Amino acid sequence: MASLNGKHVLLGITGGIAAYKCAELVRGLRKAGAEVRVVMTAAAERFVTPTTLQALSGYPVRSSLWDEAAEAAMSHIELARWADLILVAPASADALARFAGGHANDLLSTLCLASEAPVHLAPAMNRVMWANTATQDNVAVLRARGFRIHGPDSGEQACGETGEGRMLEPMQLIEALADIPQPWRGRRLLITAGPTYEDLDPVRFLGNRSSGKMGFALAASAAAQGGEVVLIAGPVALPTPPGVRRIDIRSAAQMHEAVMAELAGIDTFIAAAAVADYRPKSVSAGKIKKSEGDSSLELQRTLDILAAVSVSPMRPKRVVGFAAETERLDEHAQEKMRNKGLDAIAANAVGQSGSGFESSHNALTVFTRAGRHAIPLTTKRQAADALLDILREQLP
Ligand code: PMT
Repeated sequence: MASLNGKHVLLGITGGIAAYKCAELVRGLRKAGAEVRVVMTAAAERFVTPTTLQALSGYPVRSSLWDEAAEAAMSHIELARWADLILVAPASADALARFAGGHANDLLSTLCLASEAPVHLAPAMNRVMWANTATQDNVAVLRARGFRIHGPDSGEQACGETGEGRMLEPMQLIEALADIPQPWRGRRLLITAGPTYEDLDPVRFLGNRSSGKMGFALAASAAAQGGEVVLIAGPVALPTPPGVRRIDIRSAAQMHEAVMAELAGIDTFIAAAAVADYRPKSVSAGKIKKSEGDSSLELQRTLDILAAVSVSPMRPKRVVGFAAETERLDEHAQEKMRNKGLDAIAANAVGQSGSGFESSHNALTVFTRAGRHAIPLTTKRQAADALLDILREQLP
């Protein structure tokens, strides 16, 4: 955490229940070597007291633009210049709207407008407020203007609902602020993950063993390294990695549609999903009844999403596939790379425990046009980091 050492961090707190986490955030930032000054909105003061934050930061907490004594000690313009970075946590829906609108009607919004320091936002709100188009439009505007958005996380919310909208944990925010290398900054990645389910009737489907862990690890790694990541996920029970935009789908046809809709402007497409090659030829509207004797299913091919991306007029610069093989790994992977017109393919052995499907670990053999690279058995997150390094170095 050396990179926060000596940094001037201006922490803006807006009104939301997650404000209680700010005490730990201030402590963590100071432990990482940062000097912290806190600015609170009037609503934030209803959730946590300035006295607590003053004691933890070691400086008086500011909240009003019209506090003459505070302005005499350090004017708001001086405070804006003092900051090396601004972190607004929690950033409420109202705060996002005001920042997006360029308002300067309280101290915090004025500081965000008046400072040249990077502004990091940690949104936190009820899941429906977060999903609302108004909020999402504001986030898109802020992102385009260079605000860094961290989270929100998904899970159980203070309001009793479950979904996306929880503020990231203080430690996650501190890690995000620390200067980890950002080689994927400015690049947009589209990543698929998880299985697809092909419905047979209202209660049955054809699926596979993919847990989504490999694709989610890639999304988390790319986002942590500055990439703008869209993750298209099959039915899995995994939290969305911080900073990643997630689209949930169920079937191969839905994944195909979502991928094509997101393809414009993508730099790197990575297909880590285990997509069904076949689906039932017809889907029964009612539950298929059991009858005497055996039965058989008629199947039809699904579209190959990866091959379709590779020949698309919007083809990303790097099109990367996975190959899940039970035998002749190298041979089958290279064949898939050729047939689907890929720039790289990551092959993994499946059908065994401890790697491949479901496990938190994996070993990959990566083929690029330049050669073969082995990533020995490790955690899926480390395998993802290594794969992204290979893609950057071999396919610049
Ligand atoms: O999800 P986990 O439990 O973490 O497991 C990870 C994994 C084993 C699923 C992953 O590492 C992996 O190998 N993903 C690809 C699985 C797969 O479908 O492999 P394949 O060899 O059948 O397909 C080759 C490539 O074509 C894949 O990139 C696949 O996404 C893509 N494909 C396949 C069929 C199809 N209709 N459309 C596709 O895009």
